[in-house]
Amino acid sequence: MDITILGIESSCDDTSAAVLRNNVLLSNVIASQAVHVKYGGVIPELASRAHQQNIIPVVDTALREAGIDASQLDAIAFTRGPGLVGSLLVGVSFTKGLSIARNIPMVEVNHLQGHILSHFIDLPDRALPHPGFPFLCLLVSGGHTQIVRVDSPLEMEIIGTTIDDAAGEAFDKCAKVMGLPYPGGPVIDRLAREGDPKAFRFAHPHVEGYDYSFSGLKTSFLYTLRDAVAADPDFIEKHKADLCASLQSTIIEILLDKLVRASKETGIRDIAIAGGVSANSGLRNGITEAGRRRGWRTFIPEFKFTTDNAAMIAMAGYYRYRQDEFATLDVSPVARLEEL
Ligand code: KG4
Ligand code: ZN
Repeated sequence: MDITILGIESSCDDTSAAVLRNNVLLSNVIASQAVHVKYGGVIPELASRAHQQNIIPVVDTALREAGIDASQLDAIAFTRGPGLVGSLLVGVSFTKGLSIARNIPMVEVNHLQGHILSHFIDLPDRALPHPGFPFLCLLVSGGHTQIVRVDSPLEMEIIGTTIDDAAGEAFDKCAKVMGLPYPGGPVIDRLAREGDPKAFRFAHPHVEGYDYSFSGLKTSFLYTLRDAVAADPDFIEKHKADLCASLQSTIIEILLDKLVRASKETGIRDIAIAGGVSANSGLRNGITEAGRRRGWRTFIPEFKFTTDNAAMIAMAGYYRYRQDEFATLDVSPVARLEEL
């Protein structure tokens, strides 16, 4: 029997709703919030307000584009966390309201599992490649950097994680120092294409196991700029492309180094990437190349499933629905992964 699920995502600064029939995408609507650009980062209070303005039209559009009515939904899947509590609260409260009004069961989703499970979505006109179990997923977003061993849709183990900044944070913070707009990741990606990745050398971390660290890189980037700008105030402007290319290639080297080790030591060769930073063209090329050399099956998400979206939340919700894992009305959002 077909299962139709509405997904709702509001963990950070994108309001999104999507409809999936089983694992086939019927619609995926995302309202990005421009309000944060002028502050150079997400302002939580403004994010909550924008979610509140966006959520009803976004859900309405998602249902309309899917060609269905709310009465045809089997469940509503929503992001419970991790994320900004005020933002999550809008999605959670909206889900509860719709659930009560239409008597539709609710399914809570861990945002990070959503990113990983986006690899199982198919498009209406085209099946996409799905990794086999077990696989390793390099999950790289604005808030998290992890290597996850995935044994089944609902059995995952984090085998490596960042001990300080996330990869996306490293992109965004270094971009800010160069005076680039928020979010810095996509801007650096674009500028890096014109630059020499070997022009500058920045610090590489030495961390145990499969864990990551990006704060040392950030500091070394900052010091390089500080000294150079003291000697030449136009330094950043003159060397922007080389700075971006060198920074990006360092981040990619750090990410791939641990991923390659994890693959070697676990013997797992189905390798996926997910999360906002998996949109990065250098990382996409880098992992494809590493995979070719090592005989991996490499899974790179469609661009629309890299940054935050509700399709991935509906996909994760589908698996939980099939296990009868429903949320109750006393459910509340959680900010941190450890509390989920
Ligand atoms: O997964 P996501 O949309 O939100 C979180 O759950 O955090 O990830 C957002 C992050 C931001 O740090 C953004 O700069 C980064 O993904 N990002 C990129 C690119 N596109 C988005 N980083 C590098 N290159 C890109 N093309
Ligand atoms: Zn995310």
